[in-house]
Formats: sequence, structure tokens, C-alpha cells
Amino acid sequence: MTGTVFVLNGPNLNLLGKRQPDIYGTETLADVEAACRRLAGELGLGVEFRQSNAEHEIIDWIHEARERAAGIVINPAAHSHTSVAILDALNAFEGPVIEVHISNIHRRESFRQHSFVSLRADGVIAGCGTQGYLLALRRMAELTATG
Ligand code: DQA
Repeated sequence: MTGTVFVLNGPNLNLLGKRQPDIYGTETLADVEAACRRLAGELGLGVEFRQSNAEHEIIDWIHEARERAAGIVINPAAHSHTSVAILDALNAFEGPVIEVHISNIHRRESFRQHSFVSLRADGVIAGCGTQGYLLALRRMAELTATG
């Protein structure tokens, strides 16, 4: 066990699978969680998988991660483009941070092409669909490996 990774999801991702499937695909967030748990087991990682539509809750979870997580995988969703508060919270976390976007934000509207979270992220994965979460966990296994 190399540690527990918090996988945090921002607003509207609870609607994954139903919301704009042409952009975000048909897999649900429960499907993504199951796939993450499967892979994390293979990688020897623990996973806390969470979603909130409330910015303050995501911030509280990042604070909790300071005590409990080896790393954070985060899809901040729309907060990526607006939230200095989430950036500040991540800056107070010492472990690795990987930012995931299901869609390729750089090929979309200009307001999506800037992410505050990217200023802190050690890695950014965008446009790989929900597989991006699994790529992030693989990278996290490398970054959190001890010895
Ligand atoms: C997203 C991209 C964001 O621009 C958008 O607000 C989301 C999802 C993605 O996973 O592609 O809600 O983070």
C-alpha cells in the first residue's frame, strides 16, 4: 500500500452519463468510481472517491487530504476556470496533485482554456475521456511510491 489517493469531482459530474454525452460520454460517475477502485487495488493504492456540487465541500476535502491523503486526483469541473479558493487549498496540500478533464478543454470555448488548478497541478490530463482518471491513478502510483 503506497497510500490513499483522494479522487475529487466538482459540480455537475454527478450527472455524468446523462449530461452532454456527446462531450462527456455515457459512463456514469459510479462506473468511473468502480474502474478507479479496480485499478487502485492492482496498484496497491487506497481510494476515496467523492463528488460535490458545493465549492466549500471540495475545499474542506482538500484540507482533509492534508492529513489523510498521499495524493489528490481532481476534476474540479467548472471550478477549474474560476476558483482561486480551490487553487489556494491545493497550494496548502503537500503531496502530488493531478488534474483531470474528461473533455479536451483546449479545444472548447475560450473560457475553458484557462484553469487556475493547473497552476498547482503536477500533471494535467485532458481529452482522454473517463480513462483520464485511470491514467492519473497510474501516474499517482509512481509519484507516491516509496523506496
Ligand atoms: C470538465 C470540463 C469543464 O470545463 C466543465 O465545466 C466540466 C467538466 C471535464 O471533465 O471535461 O464540468 O472538467
